Order: sequence, then structure tokens, then C-alpha cells
Amino acid sequence: MAAYQTGILQEVPSVARYLTFSLIAGTNPLETLRRLAEQSDGQSLVIGLGRSLLLTLGAEISTLKNFPVHVAAGIEVPSTPTALWCWLRAEDRGDLVHQTHQLCDLLADAFECESVLDAFKHAGGRDLTGYEDGTENPEGEEAINVAFVRGEGAGMDGSSFVAVQTWLHDFSLFNAMTQEQQDNSIGRRKSDNEELDDVPLSAHVKRTAQEDFTPEAFLLRRSMPWSDASGEGLQFVAFDRSFDSFEAQLKRMVGEDDGISDALFRFTRPITGCYFWCPPMKAGQLDLSALGL
Ligand code: HEM
Repeated sequence: MAAYQTGILQEVPSVARYLTFSLIAGTNPLETLRRLAEQSDGQSLVIGLGRSLLLTLGAEISTLKNFPVHVAAGIEVPSTPTALWCWLRAEDRGDLVHQTHQLCDLLADAFECESVLDAFKHAGGRDLTGYEDGTENPEGEEAINVAFVRGEGAGMDGSSFVAVQTWLHDFSLFNAMTQEQQDNSIGRRKSDNEELDDVPLSAHVKRTAQEDFTPEAFLLRRSMPWSDASGEGLQFVAFDRSFDSFEAQLKRMVGEDDGISDALFRFTRPITGCYFWCPPMKAGQLDLSALGL
């Protein structure tokens, strides 16, 4: 197996920061990107490159498409493409502050910071609604098979594709639901994480049951709760060898398959949506050879 960014496979850290960057018009990002590749360890810093950046470099990776927009009754799923995604992972929030300064300085010649989102592990791995998140994630070899490209040659093998969405929860709506309504909307019991059989088809785990898709639609989810002065929610982050599983699940969530939308939309909504390609590693740094660098 080719070397990959190990932060993808590891459990989510205690604290994290998600930064997105746009390209400064008229600049050539080549040298800056080379420096970033040298400095990235793939563990405390996971990097994803957006399609606009690849096109600027005259490169294209066919699997890296545009994030799809969905509109259904009362539901909007936006697409908010951006050039560069950086996931800083740490155990100490102060470390994130210093790493952010270093990263912004390193990128300053060609990239402008667009957004900073602070995230954290909650109650051992729960969403802010109190539900355990990640229970049905693949593990070990299976996780590697799900998340990383293989059989496509040097430069591509070990890379991954990530879908990222910032979801904004509305706790006035969520807290007004009874315990039973909340459990029915997820499809699991909050108290003991037990999967419930007798729940409506709108239950989130009914919409997304990975084995129920043809072909099966497995994802390696590494989502984390976030909060700041503007609100709070879940930073949904899912790694895969392509975007097929994510897109199949998202379609079913918005009700495109059978007209039934995911009960999650009753109390939360996505406010961003981006796709990125996460390069593999080689000799301790990002391998950008697939882009001809
Ligand atoms: C605010 C947004 C979301 C929240 C709070 C949320 C929460 C949860 C929770 C609590 C579970 C059950 C435990 C587990 O297996 O992890 C779950 C399962 C799952 N979620 Fe989400 N989720 C969100 C968005 C999404 C999105 C956007 C997708 C994909 C498009 C997705 C895909 C999945 C999958 C694949 C499972 C496992 C289903 C299974 O095989 O049983 N989730 N989610």
C-alpha cells in the first residue's frame, strides 16, 4: 500500500481547525504548493486540493468533480468550492493557534485564508445532539480499502477524496423534539446507541445504511462538532476512493430516490459543500507527482 496522509486513518483528535484558502488572483501557486508539500506531515496537518487549484496548475484528476447542488422542499444543499483545505489536528488548542500562523505565513504568497472553523471531540465522539457518530465506520484494513486509492499507479495510489460540509444545527428545533422523536430522526437510541428497527424510513441511518446501496456505499467518516460565535453543528468529513458513495447517500438523504428526505433536515442544514483530493505521501512529504510537480 502506498503511503497516505495518516491523519485520515487515525481517530479524530481532541481539537482541530479547518481552514480553507482561495487563490490570490494573478499569482502562480506552484512554489508555494511545493513548500506546503515539504512541510506537510499528513498527520497533524491533512491537506486537500480543490479542483480550481488543480486547473490553475494545468492538471486534472478525473474523479475530482464539482460538489453537487441539491434542492428539495425546504432543503438546500449548497456547493461552495474552494482551492485548498487544511485540517489541523491537535490535542491542545494553543498548538492550533500557532500552527495556523505558520500555515498562513507559508501560504501567504499565493493563498488567502477564507474560513477558519474550530472543532473538538465531544463526549468521547458524539455529535452535539448527543448521538454517537462513527459507529458504523469501517476499521483497520477495511478502512484503508474504503478511503485510499489503489491500483491507479504511483502518485495516485494512497491518495483519497474527501467530501466536507459544515452543518449548522438549530437547537431550538432539536430541543423541542421529544426523546422518541430525536431517536426516530437518527434511528438509534441516544442513551445506549442501540440501532432501532421500528423507525420511520426518514431516520438518518435508514437513509444512509451503507450495505443497502448497490454497489455498497461505504465511507470513512471523520466528522467533528464545531462551535463559534455564529452557531454550532457538525463538520461532516468523509473520505473515499471516489465520491460515488457520498453522492449516493446524499441523494437518498434529500429524497431524490423515493421522495423521503432525511429527518436530520428537521433540525440541521448544510451551509457549505466542497470536494478535495488529498495527495498521497512519499518520503515524508506530500507526493504531488500526479499533478506533474
Ligand atoms: C449534521 C449532519 C449529520 C449528523 C449529525 C450525522 C450523524 C450520524 C449518526 C449519529 C449516525 C449513527 C452512528 C454511526 O454509524 O455513525 C450516522 C451514521 C451515518 N451517517 Fe451521518 N450524520 C450527518 C450527516 C451525514 C451525511 C451528510 C452523510 C453522507 C452523505 C452521512 C452518512 C452516514 C453514514 C454512511 C452512516 C452509517 C450508516 C450505517 O451504515 O449504519 N451522515 N450519522
